[in-house]
Amino acid sequence: MKVMILKNFIVFEGIDGAGTSTQIKKLVERGNSCCEDRFVATAEPTTGETGRFLRRMLGGEFSVDEKTNAYLFAADRCEHIFGKDGVKELCDSGKIVVSDRYFFSSMAYQSVSCGDELPKLLNSTFPLPEILFYFEINPEISLGRVNARGESKEIYETIEKQKAIAAQYEKVISEYEKTAGETGIKIVRINAADTIENISEEIWKIINN
Ligand code: TYD
Repeated sequence: MKVMILKNFIVFEGIDGAGTSTQIKKLVERGNSCCEDRFVATAEPTTGETGRFLRRMLGGEFSVDEKTNAYLFAADRCEHIFGKDGVKELCDSGKIVVSDRYFFSSMAYQSVSCGDELPKLLNSTFPLPEILFYFEINPEISLGRVNARGESKEIYETIEKQKAIAAQYEKVISEYEKTAGETGIKIVRINAADTIENISEEIWKIINN
């Protein structure tokens, strides 16, 4: 089955504390000051019903089997992309939509404990973004940033889990890199240990290329 590219859709991925949220904020602010509010920031888990349920799970309020999480993240994603006022609608109307996380997160995070197969199966029909920025960073550094925020920790935010998720991300991203010639996705690896300013300049240049 041929997976389609969703034009105008840009995704940022990386382990917790890699800095994707900071960069999306900067990109969208800069983009909107120059290009008449053409940019829209969004994120997964979403702020919708399923996303809010997932946030409670991430906060440790309750737990479910990791396979159940794979289904829940995919359901939240379906609404995010195809729901009313969703990503597809916005991209089709000419907006540039920038999402903090997408199905690559499910393939990295959920696969660590439930295996590759289910996350792949559940996410194989979602469209690919035009550009994927993958933020690479040593998990010790990124987890240090998460800890410095002083917020309560979410369930995946331990060094053992972050190391396993980083390894799984590497596997997933390199698979997509191998087939990029056929699918048409553009994958950009970002050195997330670099300064905020350098990274945002790099991203800006790539988007305006
Ligand atoms: P994060 O993106 O860090 O948002 P915030 O900074 O607001 O906490 O947190 C979302 C968490 O959800 C993160 O640990 C990754 C996890 N996640 C999955 O496990 N699977 C998924 O499919 C997605 C989208 C996120």
